[in-house]
Amino acid sequence: MNTFEVFKLYPIAIESAKGMELTDTEGKKYLDLYGGHGVISIGHCQEDYVKGLKAQLDKIGFYSNSVRIPFQEELAVKLQKLSGYDDYKLFLVNSGAEANENALKLASFYTNRSKVIAFRKAFHGRTSLAVAVTDSPAIQAPINKTDKVLWADLNDIESVKAVMDNDVAAVIIEGIQGVGGVKIPTDDFLRQLRELCTANGSLLIVDEIQCGYGRTGKFFYHQYSGIKADIISMAKGIANGFPVGAIMINPEIPAKFGMLGTTFGGNHLGCMAAILTADVMMKNNYVANAAKMGDYLFGKLKGHKAIKDLRGKGLMVGIETVADAAEIRNKLLFDEHIFTGFSGGVNTIRLIPPLCITEKEIDRFVEAFDKVTK
Ligand SMILES: Cc1ncc(COP(=O)(O)O)c(C=O)c1O
Repeated sequence: MNTFEVFKLYPIAIESAKGMELTDTEGKKYLDLYGGHGVISIGHCQEDYVKGLKAQLDKIGFYSNSVRIPFQEELAVKLQKLSGYDDYKLFLVNSGAEANENALKLASFYTNRSKVIAFRKAFHGRTSLAVAVTDSPAIQAPINKTDKVLWADLNDIESVKAVMDNDVAAVIIEGIQGVGGVKIPTDDFLRQLRELCTANGSLLIVDEIQCGYGRTGKFFYHQYSGIKADIISMAKGIANGFPVGAIMINPEIPAKFGMLGTTFGGNHLGCMAAILTADVMMKNNYVANAAKMGDYLFGKLKGHKAIKDLRGKGLMVGIETVADAAEIRNKLLFDEHIFTGFSGGVNTIRLIPPLCITEKEIDRFVEAFDKVTK
């Protein structure tokens, strides 16, 4: 049997990894400024993480949600500490799309409404509802197309008001648009959106799957604006590579038996991976490191003549280049052995590195970027 070829793949196979470094099957070493789609938060094969997961596997790896899994409560307490969201509830799943799927379904159940407002250029995942609120017709199958999703423009509150009505269950917005090319909603826009949702009885869902979990220097990006969301979706960095997704839910939304459910979500091994990740993040102050290293990187790149526009916050960085970004990315990978990400539509190189990055690795990137853009 062959694999179903839906990805564009680089001809590189990674055999091992440590911290910020990847090693391929030929022994070639790469600096990882992409973290496998922003997933690696505390560094590859972090010591405490590996040790803790191995120990957990010796005890129990999985049991389903037919029994109490105290690790879920332990994780909820840690997330409360990390995020500052005091009294919210936690529901655990296995991926980002699933987190958004559950967030949207929950909003519809709670409000008894059937529509949702989403933003142009947004990416929220590939399951049914998640892809319906993703502005990319190419990845929507006919079965996903629906008139229940209303579209608005980022940073244009009038475009949201124009489609808001009393059947809108929720507005869903990425804290920072990632796949769309690191596009940032302004603090004012987020505040206006919060007010509009409250006035209309609609929930505000913030998708922090890519930009959250400390990446921007605050635990969630939307916290820069001072607003609180009703539901926050997370995944990627939450468990440093173990497939875990989650939603945090406003305590005013009551849980009802059967409303949401999952076989794998919140299992012992997944929870332990997330607990260990949270512990390492807290112990090493990686949220603060993301802010500091982000400032360092932005300082180094600001005014660079090869850059048309520099966007982002902390360690979520969009570098829109003057020359072809795809070519620059390939040179960074094949000549300089540095992994980066890419947003094609806006000719942008995306850096979403592990939060344990140091000045040394940033210097190496800047030097390489200088070289390949000369
Ligand atoms: C903002 C955002 N939401 C949702 C998703 C979907 O996450 P997953 O691929 O884990 O389903 C992604 C993935 O890139 C994302 O960037």
